[in-house]
Amino acid sequence: MAEKNLSGDVYYPPNGIVKNAHIKDWDELNARAHDDYQGFWASIAEELHWYKKWDAVLDDSGKPFYKWFVGGRTNIVHSCLDRHTEGAHRNKLALIWEGEDGAFQSYSYFALLRETKRFANVLKSLGVRKGDRVTLYMGRIPELAIGMLACARIGAMHSVVYGGFSVEALHERLEDSHSKVLIVSDGAYQRGKIVPLKDIADEALQRAATVESVLVVRRTGEPINMESGRDMWYHELAKLPIANVDCPCEEMDAEDPLFLLYTSGTTGKPKAILHTHGGYMVGTYATLKYVFDIQEQDRYWCAADPGWITGHSYIVYGPLLNGATNFMYEGAPTYPYPNRWWQMIEKYGINILYTAPTAIRGLMRFGENWPNRHDLSSLRLLGSVGEPINPEAWKWYHRVIGGGRCPIMDTWWQTETGMFMITPMPCVALKPGSGTRPFPGIEMDIYNEEGKPVGANEEGYLVIKTPWPAMLRTIYGDPDRYVEQYWSKYEGVYMTGDSAKRDEDGYYWVIGRVDDVIKVSGYRLGTAEIESALVSHHDIAEAAVIGLPHDVKGNVIHAFVILRAGAAPGEHFIEELRQHVGHEVGPIAKPEHIEIVDSLPKTRSGKIMRRVLKAQALGEDPGNLSTLEE
Ligand code: PRX
Repeated sequence: MAEKNLSGDVYYPPNGIVKNAHIKDWDELNARAHDDYQGFWASIAEELHWYKKWDAVLDDSGKPFYKWFVGGRTNIVHSCLDRHTEGAHRNKLALIWEGEDGAFQSYSYFALLRETKRFANVLKSLGVRKGDRVTLYMGRIPELAIGMLACARIGAMHSVVYGGFSVEALHERLEDSHSKVLIVSDGAYQRGKIVPLKDIADEALQRAATVESVLVVRRTGEPINMESGRDMWYHELAKLPIANVDCPCEEMDAEDPLFLLYTSGTTGKPKAILHTHGGYMVGTYATLKYVFDIQEQDRYWCAADPGWITGHSYIVYGPLLNGATNFMYEGAPTYPYPNRWWQMIEKYGINILYTAPTAIRGLMRFGENWPNRHDLSSLRLLGSVGEPINPEAWKWYHRVIGGGRCPIMDTWWQTETGMFMITPMPCVALKPGSGTRPFPGIEMDIYNEEGKPVGANEEGYLVIKTPWPAMLRTIYGDPDRYVEQYWSKYEGVYMTGDSAKRDEDGYYWVIGRVDDVIKVSGYRLGTAEIESALVSHHDIAEAAVIGLPHDVKGNVIHAFVILRAGAAPGEHFIEELRQHVGHEVGPIAKPEHIEIVDSLPKTRSGKIMRRVLKAQALGEDPGNLSTLEE
């Protein structure tokens, strides 16, 4: 590509950064990957640890149930920890952690391996075996990462539930995954307050039957209820002889499950996306290495939560696979003051910062003086993920935080993709608001309703045309839904659920979801989850929710509810309803507005037409109403 002649607002990569980058020539890499994408991924897989090498890179005989590195034997944790402690990285810092209250912990690769083994032996003592499911519901503390790694080490699947979710969300995920053990922290610090995670878990456990043991990690030290026979303190078990540090990695098949992660889809309950040891390892390793250009001395900070895919791939697995030094922060970006992040970047000499547009917009509101008081010159690269970044926020991030010298990696991907799919690399010319082009080896396109590629600058459905190693393998327990949801709109092509455009330079511009998924502050929520929380309130007969644009959060939730006959809402009814949703799903799901209505627009088959509600709320033309019931 003749990058010198790109159209629009273009930021060319700084020479100093390209000179030392792993990938200096995107076109060359892309051409190589395009010619033989299986060979391309195999050459990257060679850099990782395998007990036995694969017989075939890809088996597509049962598509869309693709298999990668077939016949290979591995365990992702070996490549994350053991192989580094065997070499020069033994005493290198793997994790630096700061608590919201100023607490500090750090782990070398050796120490992280030791604590992972100890944790794994504690899980074994609770009867956890290969193939079992373990749910983790914790704040952002090192034990969350250690717990995940411990599960993977012994071949159990972890299912992390974001600590911002609440009773019903946790209950549903525990039940659907049939988790044997729940790992929970006594509480989490957030904006100077304590989120009572163990209390929430107790309520969820009253509704769920499968959990046999609850392992409680102490963080806050606040008094909590411990149910005898079910609940055990981790720090007490960790002192017992069973919690020794003799715990070899379970040798796994490349296609054995690594984890489940629940995410919201088009309809119904959140679904468990399943990722595997082999392909996920190769995909997250390669993408982080090339996109965030991990160098030996780097201190890398992904400010997401491990409870979402960004945290799985790019806080826990990707950085450790790369032998990087990872920074993790427990709390809110503005606590106690809006300079908390900038202070930590200066203090720890962070080189790479990866966050979400909503965080950037939120911090932008406090003005430039807060970051300007700090030395942010250690930063080399910046990143963005979770929703489209508006050019204004992009430019602020680039100029104020990156000092005009740090390229921004705007990475488009999903829980399902496991790894970056559309993304720049440091050697690529950037356009604010575009994630540039698909990662080498990945063919994507934008289709119209009939499955034909659209022309330049025309909007259509974003699709993926080649399989990729970190792709989801199925929806756990519901393979039909996997096929239906992702592979049924167009033959042999993965449907992302997003709409996008491609400009005359081949740069992709993601517009947003085309289904019933709403992104609030970058968090993925489904209309169905929030609606079912609303109707679980005794005064509500029916509910419909939509997302409406918001300057900082990207979208906010707007709910329409129909009252039950005889309901007599009091003065604080709307606030009570919001609290109810917060209690059931989580604070992030609370509707910003709730309107009481007499009826909802439906199709003749009874489906709520959210598009009509949205157009009405925005004062826009609702379009074709021929299917409307009344
Ligand atoms: O709509 C896209 C948006 O986030 C969705 C995936 O959400 P989730 O599975 O929670 O994963 C988020 C983190 C990977 C996508 O379908 N999205 C994600 N990244 C971007 C984005 N939209 C625009 N630009 C991005 N960089």
